[in-house]
Amino acid sequence: MAGLHRGLQNIWDNMQTAKPTIADTSAHAEFIDQIVDAGLDPEDPWVGGYVSVVWERARPFFLSRGLPAHGSKVLEFGCNFGATSVMLASMGANVTAIDINPSYVNIARTNARAYGVSMHTEFLHVGDTRRLPFGDQSFDLVVCNSVLEYVDDEHLDTVLREIDRVLKTGGILFVLGTSNKLWPREVHSGVWLVNYIPSVLDPLLRRIVPKFERGLNPWRLVRSLDGYENLDASDQGKSLMEGKRKTSSPLKCALLQLFGLASTAFGTSLGLLLPSIMVALKKNASSAQTS
Ligand SMILES: C[S@@+](CC[C@H](N)C(=O)[O-])C[C@H]1O[C@@H](n2cnc3c(N)ncnc32)[C@H](O)[C@@H]1O
Repeated sequence: MAGLHRGLQNIWDNMQTAKPTIADTSAHAEFIDQIVDAGLDPEDPWVGGYVSVVWERARPFFLSRGLPAHGSKVLEFGCNFGATSVMLASMGANVTAIDINPSYVNIARTNARAYGVSMHTEFLHVGDTRRLPFGDQSFDLVVCNSVLEYVDDEHLDTVLREIDRVLKTGGILFVLGTSNKLWPREVHSGVWLVNYIPSVLDPLLRRIVPKFERGLNPWRLVRSLDGYENLDASDQGKSLMEGKRKTSSPLKCALLQLFGLASTAFGTSLGLLLPSIMVALKKNASSAQTS
């Protein structure tokens, strides 16, 4: 019965949207030129193939949560080359995307043109994301895919307050792909123990560790958004596991299921304990933090 349900769910998911493909070859050629000019490798799956990567690895976790609602207003915070924005627009959302890096914003805009989703995407350079150029309660969904760990530590609380300000009451902040400080191996760089070294040593570490990156403390995230409902805790990890079943092996899923039961018993959610944080937080009326 569960197998039949999953099979029908897969058919439904695939019917909903087709994987984005290049619609404008000259825009794609421009994208490649911009990537090369930025000193990056277009053959790198996390550069030229980024849209496919998020489609395969991230989309199942959006679908399992019913996100994004068709026609909804979505903010992608930290859009890089626009991969997640292209995916979200292809899934029917109207996406506004921002990044602190102006050349990435240009590349993202070209990428969206290449994939034929310009009509449903807007890319803005925001040099200091402690202040966002949007009115209160502008968005139904804010997506932070692999970005909050890069926000300067001393800016993070202000940035989260600003995200809270622009998110509608009842809206969702979906954080995913975010390196977790609890883990001994930093997930993006693969460097061991760096997460456990006091951050006062960062200037030194930046000089001696070639790919120095740090994880985000998941408790800091949920504490900063006090009063938000952790939807992954509310559904006892069902949505997360539904996504995992489409992206991970059965053995890994079985282990995660056990880990998930333990995390529920400890009153938290599985996605806050994984090497890459994943959590969907719902803004309740009582959780508005802006004054
Ligand atoms: C790994 S990339 C994000 C990938 C992207 N979200 C996607 O799914 O395709 C990290 C991005 O975060 C951006 N970034 C770093 N600090 C930021 C900040 N304070 N505010 C917004 N974006 C920031 C970087 O410029 C970079 O483009």
